[in-house]
Amino acid sequence: MIAYSDVRYLLAKKSVDDRALNQTVLAALRTLLATITETGRLSVLELGAGVGTMVSRLSDWNVLKNADYTLVDRDRASLEAAQAQLLEWAGPNAMVSDGKLQIGGPERDLRVKLVHGDVLEHVVASENQARYDVVLANAVLDLLELKPALSRIWQACKPGALFWFTINFDGETIFLPELPLDEQVMALYHRSMDERVRDGQPAGDSKTGRRLLTVLPQTGAALEAAGSSDWVVFPGKIGYAGDEGYFLHHIVHTIDLALGQHPELDRTAFAAWVKARHEQIERAELSYIAHQLDVLGRTPS
Ligand SMILES: C[S@@+](CC[C@H](N)C(=O)[O-])C[C@H]1O[C@@H](n2cnc3c(N)ncnc32)[C@H](O)[C@@H]1O
Repeated sequence: MIAYSDVRYLLAKKSVDDRALNQTVLAALRTLLATITETGRLSVLELGAGVGTMVSRLSDWNVLKNADYTLVDRDRASLEAAQAQLLEWAGPNAMVSDGKLQIGGPERDLRVKLVHGDVLEHVVASENQARYDVVLANAVLDLLELKPALSRIWQACKPGALFWFTINFDGETIFLPELPLDEQVMALYHRSMDERVRDGQPAGDSKTGRRLLTVLPQTGAALEAAGSSDWVVFPGKIGYAGDEGYFLHHIVHTIDLALGQHPELDRTAFAAWVKARHEQIERAELSYIAHQLDVLGRTPS
């Protein structure tokens, strides 16, 4: 029996995201960042930051060197894991001071603030108006009602700030080898994303990736780059990389939670589908693809 944990899932996801993030969009981000870092320290906001893997990634990839970096998430356990993960990653170069994590080292000065709260409340708080130069969200916008969320997010950004929204799900989930029930399971799973409600509000869309291409300009934002960032997880000669076997178990478990009681699914057939997928992971036979998009641009000016 697997003990499922969101923290373990988000840590396992890092290597999957590392491969998936669109490198053309990332190169455009580097170019645009270079034009605004001349004006001083960057103020960066990451929405739904989870266990903080984007901070270490952007530092390791030399994308961010000097920044005040605010992570917001409503999951306290993830934020605690973020602090622990970042302290371990930075080693002797990190210290906690004034409630912030200060990460130094050669040519690096990151001051990381972890904020427990709702991202949609953080971005409209009076003290955060027109505050940030850059806003990031990785695997998050597909959990929110897109257009109203963007209008709120822009309020926290300086005019013409940069946004980099990555790993936005876009309506395609593939498991290999194929099973007869796949088509029905995937259709219902995607529909469950479209119908998801949280705190009485619609919360997400299975085609967020492509919708960003039309909705962003409608909000007055300017797109600078876009590209696919599909997750592709497969077994190599010695099995899955890192903890990606767990990542796959967690994905199958998430589908099980979403559809286990679905009236349109035959319970016995679906339980057999879930069991077969977990067993394929144990035998390192399962491959998984999720189609996603990354977008980069400037917030309304
Ligand atoms: C799929 S996880 C992605 C986490 C992280 N960005 C990553 O890619 O590893 C989505 C995260 O968004 C957070 N989240 C979703 N909606 C939120 C909201 N309205 N306010 C704050 N956090 C939110 C969840 O708690 C979760 O940590």
